[in-house]
Amino acid sequence: MTSPEVLAQPAQDFLPLNGTDYVELYVGNAKQSAYYYQAAFGYELVAYAGPETGLRDRASYVLQQGKIRLVLTTSLLPDSDITRHVAQHGDGVKVMALWVDDARQSFIETTKRGARVAFEPYTIEDEHGSVTLAGIYTYGETIHTFVERSNYSGPFLPGFVARTSGLPQGNPVGLLHIDHCVGNVGWGEMNTWIKFYEDVMGFKLLITFDDDDISTEYSALMSKVVSNGNGFVKFPINEPAEGKKKSQIEEYLDFYHSPGVQHVAIATDDIRATVTELRRRGVEFLSVPSAYYDDLTDRIGHIDEDMESVKALNLLVDRDEEGYLLQIFTKPVEDRPTVFFEIIQRKGAKSFGKGNFKALFEAIEREQALRGNL
Ligand code: FE2
Repeated sequence: MTSPEVLAQPAQDFLPLNGTDYVELYVGNAKQSAYYYQAAFGYELVAYAGPETGLRDRASYVLQQGKIRLVLTTSLLPDSDITRHVAQHGDGVKVMALWVDDARQSFIETTKRGARVAFEPYTIEDEHGSVTLAGIYTYGETIHTFVERSNYSGPFLPGFVARTSGLPQGNPVGLLHIDHCVGNVGWGEMNTWIKFYEDVMGFKLLITFDDDDISTEYSALMSKVVSNGNGFVKFPINEPAEGKKKSQIEEYLDFYHSPGVQHVAIATDDIRATVTELRRRGVEFLSVPSAYYDDLTDRIGHIDEDMESVKALNLLVDRDEEGYLLQIFTKPVEDRPTVFFEIIQRKGAKSFGKGNFKALFEAIEREQALRGNL
């Protein structure tokens, strides 16, 4: 007979994840995007692959800051998967790569539970060691690549060479690691993808927001958050909800032309210093009206930061049972109103800023109206 103790143990994690390995964007011009992310966001160029390294069809720049690796890839051909991806979606996140100890096993466990194959496992080697990769599809054309880098000591992956740019302005701004990556999916599809992460990847549902939580006078959305077993990887999923006017999620879907990654949230441990420097470098953020700050102390209680500096930088603050968080959202980083970034500093809070949704979405709607898309 099974003892109650055994029954109480959680099921073994069939997809143990060490964290996010990299996020890869397919872009129209990787050379210029790499300059933007270095000069504006303080990433450092660490590796490169392209014609000079024997690739005939693409070029990729690998940028790093803290534990974050961004890969910017562009096509060299008039017709390729990358070219078609950029034509369809504009610049966008193609790969959310997950660092695993066993890529083949990750592929087997997820595909046998119904994951759609992006590519079969394969191993690549160079003088620095070997890496095994395998890929499955998530929402839209987005892929999760499992990266097993055992003892690999090269700058990124076999085939990439170390490269630095020596940009004087490419100094880090305090970005530490990826906190969460958010996906936008179509009408009625949120639960399908939450179920995908639960059943196929063994994630657990953390939080649910319905359209009463996230609605303004005009537009609404629904959101659920899933997390892997150790909590290192968190994926909120949004879908549009009915409102008087067009939901911001619908605007994204109209311009991305499919589900896809809406924003990547990046952690800092000094958001005031980070955002001051990002603003100085020309990064544009959404702003909330000054009325947001009028009763902020009443809503969230005491915080360590001086409220005047929080207001001057237009930071948002929210509190949950475990602490508080400060956050701010960039405007979209391409001409289509699609992908953007969040900067977040957690001071105990494990939530996602629910108390800010209304103020934030009203700010997004003002931008939407300026684009003629509300
Ligand atoms: Fe977020």
